Parts: sequence; structure tokens; C-alpha cells
Amino acid sequence: MTDSKTFEFVDGDESLSICTREILDPSYGMYTWPCAPVLAQFVWHNRKQVAGKRVIELGAGTALPGMVASKCGAEVVLTDKSEPPDLLENCSRSCKMNHLGDNIKILDITWGRFNSNIMNLPPVDFILASDCFYNSDDFEPVIATVYYLMEKNPAAHMWTTYQERSSMRSIAYLLDRWNMKSTEIPLKDFNADDDFMASAHIPATSDIYFFDIQFKHPR
Ligand SMILES: C[S@@+](CC[C@H](N)C(=O)[O-])C[C@H]1O[C@@H](n2cnc3c(N)ncnc32)[C@H](O)[C@@H]1O
Repeated sequence: MTDSKTFEFVDGDESLSICTREILDPSYGMYTWPCAPVLAQFVWHNRKQVAGKRVIELGAGTALPGMVASKCGAEVVLTDKSEPPDLLENCSRSCKMNHLGDNIKILDITWGRFNSNIMNLPPVDFILASDCFYNSDDFEPVIATVYYLMEKNPAAHMWTTYQERSSMRSIAYLLDRWNMKSTEIPLKDFNADDDFMASAHIPATSDIYFFDIQFKHPR
């Protein structure tokens, strides 16, 4: 069974409406997680910065942030793992629902694995990752993938949203090990306020943070 959700991004007299396609299935990537509209709102808020830039979304799932980046004029590649097989297909259908079918490339990229899809990518300017730090076994593979992408463009930024599910988890020591630093940006700085959260179907109990991650010392 499928369902869709619509998200509205507004700034003065400019607005954007995007829908995502969800499959009512327990798989993580078939559902638009609360982190996704928050990251998409950050992209929307910074739309002038992303226009004309190369953007990749990791663990894209229903791909809301990447689709917003594409609508804002970025050249976007959406990526997720290849299993289950309808995951990337659902991502593609979300794009088609928003008339983005021809503008966005969709690739199978698994964190910490370096197949020809990732090796053949040109340097990217922004790496989007919404709720990709949810399983601590995957934290280092995600960061290794980001490191690989940042080596191709040491000035690249990773923009990521994180939902705290346990205060015992942290990526701080891994960032340090991989020569990266993070800056937390408060959600209110990009208008992800209570009204936005309510309009974006985000439960009030969601504990979401935004981080801008970069190389500590560009190589
Ligand atoms: C919690 S969901 C978040 C989905 C989407 N970014 C969102 O916020 O709605 C985690 C996503 O990471 C993807 N994922 C999980 N393990 C992965 C791996 N090893 N490599 C690549 N993607 C992975 C899942 O398929 C899923 O799309």
C-alpha cells in the first residue's frame, strides 16, 4: 500500500510544494523521517547557495531534501542502498511525482563501499544526509563515504540532520579521527520553528539537530 505526504516551504512570497511517496512497509527508506523536512528546510533557506551546485544525498529514502535542492537549481544525485529493490524505485517515483524525473540521477551507493557509481562521480559541493546516523554500526561507514567525497572536493560541506534516540551515541570522536569538524546550527536560525514542524508532520517529541560538517584542515 502506498501513501504520499506533501511538504510546503515558504519564505516571504516564495514557496515550494513537494510530495514524497511512501510505501507502508517497515523498511526505513520507504518513509519520510522527521529529519528529512528539517534538512529540506535548511536547503530551502539556503537555496541561493545551492543553485548551480553539485549535490549528493546519501541514504536518500523518499529524498525530500534532494528534491528540494533540485527544485532550487542544483544538479542532484540521490543515492541509497540497492536492497530492498523497491527502495530506489520508490525514490524514482517520488521524483516523477514532482516532475523531476529527468533532472535527477539515482544511484546505488552503500556506505563504506566504493563501487563504480561513487568512484565515477564528479566532485560534489554539498552532501546531504537526513537521519543516516541511526545505527551506530553504520556511523563510521557513513563518515568514510563522506571522507571519500570530500577528498575529491576538500571545500565540500556535509549538511546532516540527526534525531537523538540515545544520549549515549556520538559521532564527535569519529569526526575527529577522519579530520572533520561539525558546527551545530540551531533550527530556529533557518525557520524550522514549531509552526514549520507542525506543518511538516513532525511529532513534537522528535529531538532533531542540524550539523554542518567540513574537513578540519583542507588537504
Ligand atoms: C532512517 S532512514 C532515512 C531516510 C531518509 N533520508 C529520510 O530522512 O526520510 C535511513 C536511510 O538510510 C538508508 N541506508 C541504511 N543503511 C544504508 C547503507 N549501508 N548504505 C546506504 N544507505 C543505507 C536506508 O535505506 C534509508 O533510506
